[in-house]
Amino acid sequence: MLRDSDVLSALLRRKPAHSLAQDLYCDAGVFQADMEHIWYRDWLFAIPSCEIPKAGNYVVHEVGAYSVVIVRGTDGEIRAFHNSCRHRGSVLCKTKKGTGPKLVCPYHQWTYELDGRLLWAREMGPDFDASKHGLKQVNCRNLSGMVYICLADDAPPIDAFAAETARYLSPHDLENSRVAFESTITEQGNWKLVWENNRECYHCAGNHPSLCRTFPEDPRYIGSDNSGVLSEVAAIHIARCEAAGAPSAYKESPLGDWRFVRTPLLDGAESYTMNGKVAVAKPNSSLPFNDAGALLKFRYPGCWNHFLSDHVILFRVTPISPMETEVCTKWLVHKDAVEGQDYDLKRLTEVWLATNDEDREVVENNQRGIRSPAYLPGPYSPTHEGGNIQFVDWYASTLVRAFTGVGAPVAAE
Ligand code: FES
Ligand SMILES: [Fe+2]
Repeated sequence: MLRDSDVLSALLRRKPAHSLAQDLYCDAGVFQADMEHIWYRDWLFAIPSCEIPKAGNYVVHEVGAYSVVIVRGTDGEIRAFHNSCRHRGSVLCKTKKGTGPKLVCPYHQWTYELDGRLLWAREMGPDFDASKHGLKQVNCRNLSGMVYICLADDAPPIDAFAAETARYLSPHDLENSRVAFESTITEQGNWKLVWENNRECYHCAGNHPSLCRTFPEDPRYIGSDNSGVLSEVAAIHIARCEAAGAPSAYKESPLGDWRFVRTPLLDGAESYTMNGKVAVAKPNSSLPFNDAGALLKFRYPGCWNHFLSDHVILFRVTPISPMETEVCTKWLVHKDAVEGQDYDLKRLTEVWLATNDEDREVVENNQRGIRSPAYLPGPYSPTHEGGNIQFVDWYASTLVRAFTGVGAPVAAE
């Protein structure tokens, strides 16, 4: 297990534009550093807000050693709390999802308001001060219908990202949506391999027959070619969408930790379906045409998302162990869309269920190959894997900055 100093030297020794050294994908010390300096520090997408539409609805989200309850209060606000009772620490919410007028600890029934205040604790003596035993809050922001949490006490700035999220997601009504389907899979691979696979479509033609019916593998459609040049088709598409009032132009954060771009689908396809037509007759966007492509958004380290004219797909990444990563996918449709009438569930989900499974397999093969003592970092394709170069640069600089304090953010967010 590497110590922090070994992790730092592995990062400093890395060859630019090459995959990372074996330890950085496999080692338990690296995993611990990743958790402490990235996952326990940064803002992480947790759930869509429409998953807890009513007061008292809650979801439990686990990240590494932490368990967090995300709950909607009677005032409509969404808050997050550590899922640990202030009496003797029991888990407060035992189930992944639930609803209740209060949060009641299963151990000795200490009872908390939905805003975290301790309301009732039996026979704690005359000196007991309930106001000092409220639930410990976790930073939480609802950004245009996507709930982000940050486990650090001093959360990094998020206002610039929040403003861009509001702008790009303005045509997509996540608040008036609902989760039509969700799938959670565990991939036997390091979380960075899951991301690297996401950041390129070099592998698409050989692995994703159903996705390739509609999703362009040409990196110039997305702007992830290292040159940053967009294809003419993409430039025309973006201009058309922007003219219709839908923010679409490529935008990346100064730190490289997020990006938005609305990419066209192939041959005028409307959605990720086998025939390229919309999957949902009652859309959850106000886009004036069906063939608006996909607004592609990522926010390291926790999520990538696709916003289509008819529905939204949210992918959430959570590391489990050095070589295990959970990928949770949620399909959001308009809240009034009726299954069997406005959409067929199989048609809505089949392309990405297959694609996720195909991605799981390539990530697992990637991890197995990297575990071989013979593995050496290899070069990324400058044409197809610009996104990987960007990702590993972001990863390495984030961790180096955490260890050394050097390489301060290039611009305050
Ligand atoms: S640990 Fe929660 S009430 Fe005792
Ligand atoms: Fe893929």
